[in-house]
Amino acid sequence: MDAELESILAQYDSNQIFVICSSRSAQPLLYPTFQLEDGEAAKSLAMAEELWKWLTEHDATRKALLINIGGGTVCDLGGFVAATYLRGIDYINIPTTLLAMVDASIGGKTGINLGGLKNRVGAFYPPKAVLTDMRYLETLPPEEILSGYGEILKCGLLEGRAVFGQAAQSLEDFMNGSQEAVSMKVITSARAYKEHIVASDPREDGLRKVLNFGHTAGHALEEKTHARHGYSVMWGMIIEVYLSVIKLGFPKEILTCLNQLMLSYYGRPSCNCKEQDELVSLMRKDKKNAQANAINFTLLRQPGEPLINQVATDNEIREGIEYLFSL
Ligand SMILES: NC(=O)c1ccc[n+]([C@@H]2O[C@H](COP(=O)([O-])OP(=O)(O)OC[C@H]3O[C@@H](n4cnc5c(N)ncnc54)[C@H](O)[C@@H]3O)[C@@H](O)[C@H]2O)c1
Repeated sequence: MDAELESILAQYDSNQIFVICSSRSAQPLLYPTFQLEDGEAAKSLAMAEELWKWLTEHDATRKALLINIGGGTVCDLGGFVAATYLRGIDYINIPTTLLAMVDASIGGKTGINLGGLKNRVGAFYPPKAVLTDMRYLETLPPEEILSGYGEILKCGLLEGRAVFGQAAQSLEDFMNGSQEAVSMKVITSARAYKEHIVASDPREDGLRKVLNFGHTAGHALEEKTHARHGYSVMWGMIIEVYLSVIKLGFPKEILTCLNQLMLSYYGRPSCNCKEQDELVSLMRKDKKNAQANAINFTLLRQPGEPLINQVATDNEIREGIEYLFSL
């Protein structure tokens, strides 16, 4: 990574390179550095404004480069600031969490939250580069590794039975004490899948919606429970795989396998089944819904066969929520 970083930096005036990083991944750098308390609260308009002002105070011009070092929250916020400052400056992401390495740092979706609504304000604005340094994983707590696996398992299901099996095995190996299980191979495979989809549909007009699998229900659970993103995706996938089973005949044994992974490692969401109406109404507010009244899902006919724009009735969704809470 170091050589790649150097060659990117060489393309910019050294007075025009700026760094945003989480206080946890802070490191001595030659450039002006804005350290922030990361986490979901950082993805706010107030924080974006602070960063715009900070760049202005440092005379950042349109030729500036912003380097985001951190988890998905830093990448989303930093990307949004880069997209909007002076109508757009260059940026690169150096992800420090597994979730950001396989998902949040790539694909150019940048954004901040608005009130309780996740990623309500943002822009499609791709980074100039994403640099992966596995050393960051050494300090990452197991819950954050599990969160990353939520997205890795999602990519596995979207790609096919074999890739899902490998992802599930790698998670089991990690939980049985093998640090090497979280390998560059596992990361590169999930990342390459996302990059391939994004390249063919950068602005989510069609195919890119496959990546939302697990996220319609997942985001509602995340907004309700404030759980880690990858945990919410895991729970969301169980609801959406359940819908896939009842609506499209998706194989039930894969749902059983997901259930076991959830019960062994992730636990259940902290809200309860009585809050179904609120969850359904949060799903209705999902920004991916083209029509205000329909709830749009990406469902699977088989592992590796996603179908976008699948509409489920409120009753079917309630059944899915009940199923998740019955486990
Ligand atoms: N833009 C996208 O395409 C996309 C995709 C998926 C998720 N996201 C967003 O990403 C965010 C979640 O990302 P996240 O899970 O990385 O969360 P995060 O950025 O909050 O990081 C999780 C935690 O890990 C800590 N941390 C980061 N790096 C560390 C390291 N190397 N060692 C020890 N601790 C470290 C952080 O301080 C934080 O407490 C959400 O806001 C989600 O919406 C965006």
